Amino acid sequence: MTERALQTNLVDTRPILDGLVTSVFMFDRELHLIYLNPAGEMLLEHGVSNLLGLPAEDVFPGDDDFLGAMGTVMSSMHTQTEREKNLSLLGRREITADYAISPCMAGVDVNGVLVELAQVDRQLRITRERRLLSQQVTARRLLRGLAHEIKNPLSGLRGAAQLLERELDSEDLREYTRIIISEADRLRALVDRMLGPNSRPRLTLVNVHEILDRVCQLVLIEPSAGVALSKDYDPSIPELRLDRDMIIQAVLNIVQNALHALEGHGEIQLRTRIARNYNIGGVRHRLIAVIEVHDNGPGVPENLLDRIFYPMVSGHADGTGLGLAISQSLVTQHGGLIECQSRPGHTIFTLLLPVEANA
Ligand SMILES: Nc1ncnc2c1ncn2[C@@H]1O[C@H](COP(=O)(O)OP(=O)(O)O)[C@@H](O)[C@H]1O
Ligand SMILES: [Mg+2]
Repeated sequence: MTERALQTNLVDTRPILDGLVTSVFMFDRELHLIYLNPAGEMLLEHGVSNLLGLPAEDVFPGDDDFLGAMGTVMSSMHTQTEREKNLSLLGRREITADYAISPCMAGVDVNGVLVELAQVDRQLRITRERRLLSQQVTARRLLRGLAHEIKNPLSGLRGAAQLLERELDSEDLREYTRIIISEADRLRALVDRMLGPNSRPRLTLVNVHEILDRVCQLVLIEPSAGVALSKDYDPSIPELRLDRDMIIQAVLNIVQNALHALEGHGEIQLRTRIARNYNIGGVRHRLIAVIEVHDNGPGVPENLLDRIFYPMVSGHADGTGLGLAISQSLVTQHGGLIECQSRPGHTIFTLLLPVEANA
């Protein structure tokens, strides 16, 4: 059977395939794309006319397992299905998808493969996002309770030490009361930091790129020769109504973590994008400014990955584990959210900030 037969088959099934919400790709025996449905066009963010004839390795670049599976399906004539697999698409976009690869039969011959692909990261993301937000609420509640329990006796302790200091004649003994007072102050400051800033955001119209440039300036104060810092900005992002200092702090904590993880060698990229019709914690936003911090370090330790936004969770012996908890709290105060995706060699922290909520 020839490619023409495959095209003839397509004429019959095309109206059905065109109406599906899952993406459908059809490849010929040489694994060149001969059909994709409108859902597939949307997924690839390209029109069909630019894509027909492309080899499978251009449509799914660098995905050797996936490309290998297509070959296997053709020789074995058995359908292969996978769930929640990471795939890279044309344009190096990465998605998580459920897929099925089936042989296209023409009589007893195989003359191509049909790939059906349903993107699932949206669902996974929404579940993960709910978990992040509820983590955040639980953590803050716990901290508020704990902070209260600590701060009250602490001010009593500090007051008593001050009284005692006045009664003491010896300078040597006063040294001790001074230690009590300064340690009480330190503890109080620590508790305040753990709570995150309790002032409400002071909103002004700000350009997010100006914020990112400021973060770059701040981290470059301690230059580390082996780390390259690059920017990939989307100039179409409008100005946002934000508390500039808060968002600088939120991004700074993330970039500092990336620098720390790279241990002097690697790349950090700050990327911005605009996203439309996006849900954050059940609230739908028409426009979202997306700020991504990419690094090619070793990745977040797997056992920490679902806890890193909790306070006091750190992968370092000398870490406070507060950086990300504070960043998350600063961003949620703006109606946004921070997410993390990480594997060895590629970590992305994504800050999502609603545009119109503040406009
Ligand atoms: N870019 C990154 N790469 C690898 N691990 C990271 C990265 N960012 C954060 N982490 C992990 O998350 C932990 C928590 O970070 P954070 O809340 O800032 O606390 P701290 O920096 O004090 O440890 C870090 O200790 C580290 O193990
Ligand atoms: Mg940190």
